[in-house]
Amino acid sequence: MIKKGIILAGGMGTRMSPLTKAVNKQLLPLYDKPLIFYPLSILMLSGIKNILIIVNKGQLSQFRKILPENNNLGLKIKYVEQSSPRGLPDAFILGEHFIKKDKIALILGDNFFYGQNLSSKLQEAVKLKNGARVFLHPVKKPNLYGVATINSKNEIIKIVEKPKKTKSNLAVTGVYFFDNKVVEFSKKLKPSKRKELEIIDLLNQYKKRKKLKAEFIGRGGAWLDTGNIEDFYNTSNFVSAIENRQGLKIACLEEISINNKWIGKKEIIESIKFYGNCSYSNYLKKLII
Ligand code: TTP
Repeated sequence: MIKKGIILAGGMGTRMSPLTKAVNKQLLPLYDKPLIFYPLSILMLSGIKNILIIVNKGQLSQFRKILPENNNLGLKIKYVEQSSPRGLPDAFILGEHFIKKDKIALILGDNFFYGQNLSSKLQEAVKLKNGARVFLHPVKKPNLYGVATINSKNEIIKIVEKPKKTKSNLAVTGVYFFDNKVVEFSKKLKPSKRKELEIIDLLNQYKKRKKLKAEFIGRGGAWLDTGNIEDFYNTSNFVSAIENRQGLKIACLEEISINNKWIGKKEIIESIKFYGNCSYSNYLKKLII
């Protein structure tokens, strides 16, 4: 069972500049919440409450303001600073002391997931005994992503970063589940031409050993981009459309926590005080009447 998760919330956010010059991308508002709430909600829906957040050097105090170690969410949050964006597998090198001998989930701080049965799929994925699991999702422009080719048994037979030509349209999304070997494998990786440790190289270590399994978000689910300004606002509009239609929030952290029985009425009241008089607090009030 995977009980620990890492959120990679550093990065340069170059494509979102000038918005990201003073503020980290993960703290920008995706409709009515900071972007980081969405990937955090995914870890929480998986049943993970022991969380390491990796942030850029110098930005820790900003993150602490919204997600303090001492929080009302029933979460055990720790932070580590990354001095420069050395690549996604750096999460497991920086996170070694946090991971210890355990298995680990990783989610990219700018990834948005939504969909029917997603929670149960995530709760299946954390039951991982050994090896690695990735979630795949079809995309229209596979050449922008890491792309996996699968066989008839849904086993990954090939995985390539931003292929110029590919028959597969299955992108590797930004949520991953690993056994403890991930630390050792990450330490052995060499930087690529763009001077980063590459997640594809790490996944290939598992594939080589026939230990890489694919899961699917499914056709009814969404995995949306927030990497450039156009995509960011489209995703924001998606959240607004769903929330305003249903009257239910996506990624309300307190709602997930109370449903998981990690917190009770007392913590919700504390959260309402923490956020102050706003529509998010009004939504929290409805959870405890
Ligand atoms: P990217 O999309 O690769 O990078 P970015 O967010 O900095 O954006 P840009 O390409 O416009 O410069 O990163 C995906 C996510 O992972 C993002 O949330 C930032 C985070 N990240 C880190 O925290 N550390 C890293 O070393 C890298 C490469 C990414």
